[in-house]
Amino acid sequence: MVRIIAKNISKVFKKGKVIALDNINLVINNGERFGILGPSGAGKTTFMRIIAGLDVPSSGELFFDDKLVTSNGKLFVPPEDRRVGMVFQTWALYPNLTAFENIAFPLTNMGLSKEEIRRRVEEVAKILDISHVLNHYPRELSGGQQQRVALARALVKDPSLLLLDEPFTDFLTTLEGRWFPPREIIVPTIDSGLHLSYGGQTRGPETPSCSN
Ligand SMILES: Nc1ncnc2c1ncn2[C@@H]1O[C@H](COP(=O)(O)OP(=O)(O)OP(=O)(O)O)[C@@H](O)[C@H]1O
Ligand SMILES: [Mg+2]
Repeated sequence: MVRIIAKNISKVFKKGKVIALDNINLVINNGERFGILGPSGAGKTTFMRIIAGLDVPSSGELFFDDKLVTSNGKLFVPPEDRRVGMVFQTWALYPNLTAFENIAFPLTNMGLSKEEIRRRVEEVAKILDISHVLNHYPRELSGGQQQRVALARALVKDPSLLLLDEPFTDFLTTLEGRWFPPREIIVPTIDSGLHLSYGGQTRGPETPSCSN
């Protein structure tokens, strides 16, 4: 697990014309579930991308425990060395890769043997009940299965921090009134079994409030 410390983080786009983040200061403690709420365009995804190492802050500093991982436009620790799993807002599965290959993708840069990759993918697939569709391409998966493949891809590298960027929005919409809070089901399982920190965000009156 890891403690995340953001100090005076700002992010601008378009040469300063768009201010996505304005002086963010916060601490996410080890093992904490932390929610970020805000309207569309508030900067939620931008902040998560900076934590994951997919983007850098224009100014400010981000620490993982005592280690400075990025500051003032510079990246000190790349995404592959951060042990962060992220489930993207749109799930972002690679359409030309099977479910197995999508889940294995983060492991391919880690120098693991084929056997170890297979073992890890099969393990997480079993937990999420998608073992039977591992040879399917994303277009051959149901919405819920695609969601679980995206979650599996985030979990397979045994992350210290799991970032969930509204991954259930579409899922909730498709339930059409048969709503239930999947986070309440999934997160306790993750916490008890994998001991993760958790950063997630949601919005809208029909979705559960996040708390830390
Ligand atoms: N690469 C980019 N170039 C220019 N502007 C960007 C870029 N990425 C994000 N923005 C802008 O930064 C602001 C924050 O975007 P972000 O995606 O973080 O919002 P969000 O809170 O995740 O919104 P939503 O709830 O709609 O997903 C928005 O005004 C967006 O248009
Ligand atoms: Mg977003």
